[in-house]
Amino acid sequence: MTSPDLPAELKAALDGKLRGFSRSDAAARAASISETYRGGGGSGTIRSEADALAYALARMPATYAAVTASLNALVEIRPDLAPKSLLDVGAGPGTATWAAAEAFPSLQHFKLLDANDALRTLALDLARDSTRLHGIGYERGEARAALTRADTADLVVASYMIGETGDAEQRTLSELMWAKTGDTLLVVEPGTPAGYARIIALRDHLIAQGAHVAAPCPHDGKCPLEPPDWCHFTQRLQRSRAHKQAKGAELPFEDEKFAYVALTRTAVARRPARVLAQPAVSKVEVAAKLCTPGGLSFAKIPRRAKADYASARRWRWGDAVN
Ligand SMILES: C[S@@+](CC[C@H](N)C(=O)[O-])C[C@H]1O[C@@H](n2cnc3c(N)ncnc32)[C@H](O)[C@@H]1O
Repeated sequence: MTSPDLPAELKAALDGKLRGFSRSDAAARAASISETYRGGGGSGTIRSEADALAYALARMPATYAAVTASLNALVEIRPDLAPKSLLDVGAGPGTATWAAAEAFPSLQHFKLLDANDALRTLALDLARDSTRLHGIGYERGEARAALTRADTADLVVASYMIGETGDAEQRTLSELMWAKTGDTLLVVEPGTPAGYARIIALRDHLIAQGAHVAAPCPHDGKCPLEPPDWCHFTQRLQRSRAHKQAKGAELPFEDEKFAYVALTRTAVARRPARVLAQPAVSKVEVAAKLCTPGGLSFAKIPRRAKADYASARRWRWGDAVN
């Protein structure tokens, strides 16, 4: 399992960039960027080097944690997966590329694309001294055009990206990303009802084109959740001093809510049930909400079933369980 916290090389590169920047200015910029995201806006307000750094300080640890949690779930289901090439769509500061490099020592070729020049410049700066990532290829351009030109990659990732485009564009991008996927496509979105809805739309559209779900769903059928319920997960991450300052926060950690889907070209042999919320553990039983190959299940594992109860006590939200 890869740690959800930023790798030391990336932390050092970010700290290096911070030297010479005012932390209060970074906090003000981060607050304004977050305000735009909360209002449904995108990354268009990130225009300068200082904006890009503020985004990276405030959001990169959380999106990195969400991508890492999704990749950990994928690796658990596909332990054989050893991609050599990565395509990071809407790569921003390179978050998903760093996460994938940590999760897959097999990766050798890294291709990133994004329309935002300030984020692209920051990504290249952060990767410059990295042993794995100093040679990344990063194309600046609109995803649709850049994807059309891109080579196929074993692993294609779009992290916190598709929500910045309209519904019709999401459909086109999902088809283009799938066309460029040699093995697995991972799409990660905020863990909101809207983020989940985008994941489900993309999931359904690509299953109809022959994709199979590797995670989180243990089936390729219709999602059994009914609104207002939605499938999402949470990942805790530690906040560094710079991260706390950028967010004006006191707590040394935060919990990032995310939704994701990993789609593969070949059907996965074993798809265990997925824990959809933190189980309730009492002295009498463990009560857990599970998505199973047969649909939604509210499992109760009584204490008298000693071995099963002992193992269910260790279940965590997001786990794949038998
Ligand atoms: C919220 S940021 C996420 C960045 C990074 N993937 C991460 O997880 O931290 C969304 C990124 O998608 C890029 N983006 C959005 N729409 C795009 C498009 N149509 N073409 C290229 N890039 C796009 C933005 O420029 C921005 O860098």
